[in-house]
Formats: sequence, structure tokens, C-alpha cells
Amino acid sequence: MATIRLPGLIDAHVHLREPGYTHKEDFHSGTCAALAGGVTTVLDMPNTEPPTSTPRRLQEKVDLARAKAVCDVGLFVGATVADIDAYLPAATRSCGLKIYVNETFGSLRIEELGLIHRLFRTWAARAAELDGWRPAATAAPTTATTLGPIAVHAEELMVPVCLSLCQLYDVPLHVVHVSRRSEIELIRAAKEKGLPVTCEATPHHLFLSEESFNRGGNRFDMRPRLAAPDDVEALWENLDAIDIFATDHAPHTLPEKGMAEDLPASSDRPPLPGVPGVETMLPLLLTAVDAGRLELDDLLLRCVENPRRIYALPEQPQTWVEVDVDTVHVLSDELTRARCGWTPFAGRHVKGRVEKVVLRGQTVFDGEQVLAAPGSGRVLFQESEQ
Ligand code: DOR
Ligand code: ZN
Repeated sequence: MATIRLPGLIDAHVHLREPGYTHKEDFHSGTCAALAGGVTTVLDMPNTEPPTSTPRRLQEKVDLARAKAVCDVGLFVGATVADIDAYLPAATRSCGLKIYVNETFGSLRIEELGLIHRLFRTWAARAAELDGWRPAATAAPTTATTLGPIAVHAEELMVPVCLSLCQLYDVPLHVVHVSRRSEIELIRAAKEKGLPVTCEATPHHLFLSEESFNRGGNRFDMRPRLAAPDDVEALWENLDAIDIFATDHAPHTLPEKGMAEDLPASSDRPPLPGVPGVETMLPLLLTAVDAGRLELDDLLLRCVENPRRIYALPEQPQTWVEVDVDTVHVLSDELTRARCGWTPFAGRHVKGRVEKVVLRGQTVFDGEQVLAAPGSGRVLFQESEQ
């Protein structure tokens, strides 16, 4: 059995659901699942209830994460139509601004071009008042007077809209979960022209296609939807233009997805889009390495180095993950630690079982159990040292 040692992974796109949806996940259950997946830093999205759209709500989230998280957590802020600029005073304490310009779960949607302009303009103006954008690479623990990128959920025609605003306002733009050929080819071209744009792809868009949805139904429903095999192929062909692998860990219960056999279908509520993923990213990617589709360095670049650089995340000293890369195991709903208790990859044979995670010198996961105390994770970008 070969065991390798990797740095702690960064999952730059998770939904830990707290506050508001703790029956799906919370800071403790979600970060326990992260550690079991070899992930020692997560960046959490603002589409909670209430959404993270004011300094006070950000502080409430910071307090929850400080009390419960077992790995390090960065928090995004988001804008609401009702009070579009309310998040701005909290900008420096977030890992970035998330804008949803397409339909998805939650109330955070900004679809009017004028408002999207305004968000780019005000984020750039705030950065100019401060010390600009977060440094490209840093080992500093916090950067209290700089801003992170704007991360957009932009699909189809909204991709060129966001790219042109990135160019107009010269704001670092990160396009989350790119899923289609037309999108990645446009982003590649924008990068070649020198725009400050980066992007990410999820394991589900890399390893599943619409054929899974056609066979398996709502369990495989998320936004962006699983795409055609040619789109999946395009992501692999354009891997060099994909900066980050991130999961979009978006747990919903199976009944909420309309998938519970023992419950009557709740026809008054549409099935919710989103799939969990923080536990399964590393084994799926290591299996691709084993199959020769990916180099280990490609994985580390996109799961550690690039997210650290793009979001200016601090180094985690004395932190590593030990992984058995030989033994085949089968992903299953039963083994899932996320509170929702299922995975879209159930039944898949993978290599890459996480045997141990050490965070800042402490063994926090021993291959079976999470040993870290709730609250031992750090919340990033807060002014005061913890
Ligand atoms: O499928 C999705 N679910 N896509 C998103 O962008 C949001 C997510 C959620 O929060 O459930
Ligand atoms: Zn998401």
C-alpha cells in the first residue's frame, strides 16, 4: 500500500448552509466532511438565510464558524437587490464578493445590467480607497486593507457580460463552476488578451454529463446543469485555462430533491438544485491521476496553489494529508459524512482514501474519526488574530 503526503486542500466553493438551512449542513458537519476529504480550508458562499449581505450578518456568520468549524473558513459576502451596497463595509473581512447573475438556489440574484455594473464599480472604488487588490501571493495571515476578487455565478450569455465588466472596471474576476465549451473558450480568449480573469471547474462537471441526469434524475440536478459530453471534453481539453478545482458542495436532503422513495413527492415545491462534493473531490481527482488523465502537480496547482494565490489565503504551517493511493474503495451514500447523507458519485470505484489529516501540528482526522474540537478552525480575514 502506497501512502503519499499532500498539502491540505483548499475547496474554494462550498455552501455550509448556516444560518438558515442547518438541516442540510452546518459549520461543524460541513467542515468535518471537509477534513474527511483532505480539505483544510473552505470558502463559504453567502446564499444562506438570511444571506450574508450586511456587516452584521457577516459577523454573525464569523461567530458561528468560530464556534463550530474544524477547518479554516473564508466567507464571501453577497449583494441583494433590496440593499445593493449594504455588504460594502464588510468587504475587507470577506474572501470576495459573490454575485449570482443566473437562476440558482436562494434569494441572491442580480439580473439587471445596471446593478451588475454598479457592483463592479463600487467594488473597484472600494479597493482604490484601500490598498487595492489582495497580493498575488502572500504568507501574511490577514490582509485587512485589501479586497479579494468578484466571484460570479455566470452561465451562457452572462459570461461575456461579466468579462466585459471585468475589463471595463479592471476588477479581478473569478468565474465559478464553468461547465460549457462556449464558456471556457471565451474565458481562455479573455485570459490570452490579458484580462484579470480566473475560473474554476467542479468534479461533477468534469466527471459526469447530462447522461447521468437523464438516467438518474434530480439527484444529478444542479446549476449549472450537467452538460453534454462535448462540453465535458472541452473542460479537459482546456485544463490549462482552469485555475481551480472546487466542489460547489451544495447539500440538500434527498426529499428536497424530490428523490425520497419513502416520502410522498411534495409537488408544491420544486426540487432543489445542488449536490454535495467536499468529501469526494480528492479521491475522484486522484483516480484521474491514476488513470493518466491528470498529473498530481495539476491537482495540487488547482486545489492548493492557485486558490491560495487567487484569494490570498494564508499558509497553514505543519499541515498535511496522508492518502492511500493504491486501495480501491467504493463511494457510497452510507459513507457520506455531510449531513445530507448522499453523494452523486455513489457506486463509483476510486483510489485515494484519506488516512490522516494534520492541521497546524494536530491530528484532526485519523481516517475514521474527526478529532478536532469544534471551533479549532480559523475564520480568515478577520481583523483580530484568534
Ligand atoms: O446547484 C447549485 N446549488 N448551484 C448553485 O450555484 C447554488 C447551489 C446551492 O446553494 O444549492
Ligand atoms: Zn455554489
